[in-house]
Amino acid sequence: MTITLLRPCLEWLPAYEQALIQGWSPNADSNNGPQQLMALRADPERFLHELRNSTTVRQPDGRVVPRLPAHDFWISDGEFCGRISFRFEWGVKELTPTSYGHVGYSIVPWKQRRGYATEALRQVLFVAHEEGFARVQITCDDDNEGSRKVILANGGIPDGTFPHLTRPGHRKLSFWVPTHAR
Ligand SMILES: CC(C)(COP(=O)(O)OP(=O)(O)OC[C@H]1O[C@@H](n2cnc3c(N)ncnc32)[C@H](O)[C@@H]1OP(=O)(O)O)[C@@H](O)C(=O)NCCC(=O)NCCS
Repeated sequence: MTITLLRPCLEWLPAYEQALIQGWSPNADSNNGPQQLMALRADPERFLHELRNSTTVRQPDGRVVPRLPAHDFWISDGEFCGRISFRFEWGVKELTPTSYGHVGYSIVPWKQRRGYATEALRQVLFVAHEEGFARVQITCDDDNEGSRKVILANGGIPDGTFPHLTRPGHRKLSFWVPTHAR
């Protein structure tokens, strides 16, 4: 199956909406699905514009902070499969390690365990390379076996842990993942 990364667009918005209706959360750390569904239904074009251009982002702990530049992609196998995002700071090749890292992804439940996240991350690493990054930091929850495997399959090198900000008793595992030219 061929996996393609698409820029968010009006054409795919109905499929994105369907995924939200079925309970998918675009954000792995907090369920922002219901909030996105409301905004999308209120004004689809504005929703898309915000998705692409918003200057702020809400953290899982509720804080609204300036949004880093980001490449956001929707993942397709011919149907909508999820999203993956590479966030970074212009001119800063090594972000200070944080508990969230450079790359976030979420696959809709009905497309999981087909290798899609592994392949989407492989493709996003090309984008990171094109932005001048030799490696990116990616984190996952200590009990997220699927995500840990996705990171390791892409060459992730473990680099310690952080306290989890929203799940008491859990930690975030941090990895550095080398990027490659396309
Ligand atoms: C974690 C997640 C991204 C994995 O996506 P995916 O497309 O199913 O992953 P892949 O199919 O590429 O699987 C990679 C490996 O992880 C394994 N895996 C996937 N989901 C798993 C799970 N829930 N439990 C254990 N292993 C799992 C696969 O079997 C595969 O193992 P293999 O390489 O030994 O065959 C997906 O479950 C998801 O979106 N979860 C909710 C959001 C999330 O956790 N995002 C990541 C935040 S860091």
